[in-house]
Amino acid sequence: MSGAERPIGVFDSGVGGISVLGTLRHLLPSEDFLYYGDTAHAPYGTKPREEVLRCADAVMAHLLEQNVKAVVIACNTATSVAAAELRARLTLPIIGMEPALKPAHELRHGGQILVLATPMTLTLPKFRALMARYGEGAVPVPCAGLMELVEREDWQGAAAYLAARLADFDLTRVDAVVLGCTHYVFLRPVLRELLPDTVSVLDGNLGTARQLRRVLAERGLLRTAGTGRTVLETSGDAAEALPVMTRLLAAAERMCEEETVIK
Ligand code: DGL
Repeated sequence: MSGAERPIGVFDSGVGGISVLGTLRHLLPSEDFLYYGDTAHAPYGTKPREEVLRCADAVMAHLLEQNVKAVVIACNTATSVAAAELRARLTLPIIGMEPALKPAHELRHGGQILVLATPMTLTLPKFRALMARYGEGAVPVPCAGLMELVEREDWQGAAAYLAARLADFDLTRVDAVVLGCTHYVFLRPVLRELLPDTVSVLDGNLGTARQLRRVLAERGLLRTAGTGRTVLETSGDAAEALPVMTRLLAAAERMCEEETVIK
């Protein structure tokens, strides 16, 4: 297999990147995807940086063995920790995530922007640089422990967690909530219940999918005919993790179909 026919690798510490995968499949239906959830080493967001770097290196080595033509780091934490180093030594396209602070900044009308992400994402230089440019009114809200609830599909637990976390804020003064962790995208319905209708909820999934499409087209690697296949893998217990991934991929695809602006 050569060139455009090869699959695209997508990875995360667990099921979070499945939300990105849903958008990728929607935007690039002819592509083959190999999704790798590093469940055995989750969570990334509360581990030392060096450990996350080692995990990202190991996953990347696995994906390269599968002859992927590009990789999407479908994880804000792993992108902040490892994207620059991986790009410096590999030539294939590596697309990462970043909290959607720029679009949130553009629609802000004087209120606060709450940026929900892992403690790691919010302390690394990549986020600090983003804050320096688009951070007016933005408040970092580290959410240690929240990804674990999504991994367990504990939607009630996640609702209670978020209600407690948001109780610190006057929500009538909030313009937008940024989902700066790919796991949290699955909590959109839960958040909508907790937030006034005037608050926008933003994620970076579509921006990442468009960036991938652009880069593949530039390098002559885009597939535009046929129906792509998706393979799901985990470093954890497959019998436990794969059914959760499959259910969440269906949920991610439903969310994409409900979105009006997806192209
Ligand atoms: N899904 C990951 C992210 O986007 C992180 C979750 C974790 O492993 O802590 O940041």
